[in-house]
Amino acid sequence: MLNQLEEIKQKAAQELEAVTQVRELESWRVRYLGKKSQLNGILRSLAILPLEERKKTGALANQVKASLEDSLKQKRQVLRETQLDTTIEKGHIDITLPGRPFSVGRLHPITQTLHEICDIFVSMGFQVVEGPEVEWDYYNFEALNIPRHHPARDTMATLWVDVESEGGERNMLLRTHNTAGDIRAMETMSPPIRVVIPGKVYRYEASDATHTPMFYQIDGFAVDKGITMAELKGTLYEFARRFFGEDRKVRFRCDYFPFVEPGVEMAIECLVCGGAGCRLCGNTGWIEILGAGMTHPRVLERGGLDPEVYTSFAFGMGIDRLPMLRYGIDDTRLFYSSDLRFLRQF
Ligand code: DAH
Repeated sequence: MLNQLEEIKQKAAQELEAVTQVRELESWRVRYLGKKSQLNGILRSLAILPLEERKKTGALANQVKASLEDSLKQKRQVLRETQLDTTIEKGHIDITLPGRPFSVGRLHPITQTLHEICDIFVSMGFQVVEGPEVEWDYYNFEALNIPRHHPARDTMATLWVDVESEGGERNMLLRTHNTAGDIRAMETMSPPIRVVIPGKVYRYEASDATHTPMFYQIDGFAVDKGITMAELKGTLYEFARRFFGEDRKVRFRCDYFPFVEPGVEMAIECLVCGGAGCRLCGNTGWIEILGAGMTHPRVLERGGLDPEVYTSFAFGMGIDRLPMLRYGIDDTRLFYSSDLRFLRQF
């Protein structure tokens, strides 16, 4: 039996020597180390041998087994290395190539701007709420002092939804401004209310460098007892300082919006010329960024609030202009053209 073991060892070594592929190793293992192998047969028959012989044969058999296992391990290692070498030599793997970078997504510049603006107002105690993009005429116009046939409707070219009311009039539309959400906020919340309403608005307009039929606005609205124009100016001034920088000058002038009285527009000192006058600001030194005012008493009433008890201010601004001013972008259509070469810069 001892001779037999020596033979096995030799034969196995010879055959292993001849193996050139990793995948051939398994059949070698089954043949020499597997359950049905001669070696395993010897190991199992040890029990029936006389003690002396069992000791000797057992020791040698285990030694042969350990050595075969060891050779197998070494051979596998050697084959793997040489195979890798040849693949590299053949040029199948170029280890000098830099790794492929994972592409990481990012937020759209308009979304980033919206988040930034909302954060500023949230830090001043405002809450972010959203309204529907498909809105009733009532919320978008009627409740905001813009009845049918009122000339103020002409300032917002409206996209109507093709549904008629019982009286045969169209009363559903794509909201033209987020001020529509102010009445909804009044209906569902009770004072003190401080909300900002970000989102898309729509107007029936041809696209050019400064217009798109869809754009983003943020409307803000605060109601409480004793709110005055001072709170309005203070809030918007703080916003401008935080968004455009500490030293940014701000100007308020009278303006007209049917849902506020008095109404104002706010402008900031031109970011390009610093007030001296240039092409961007049309030589005025100022850039208008939003409309605002003290909410009209009739509007508060329609929202279910008593204008004798509560006063309120509101403001609304287009978002697209802000990153344009900040980054010097001259065409608003770039934001919506899905051109990654443009979007990846932010
Ligand atoms: N909704 C107006 C627009 O889209 C902007 C505006 C003006 C909003 C005055 C307001 C406001 O909340 O008080 O042109």
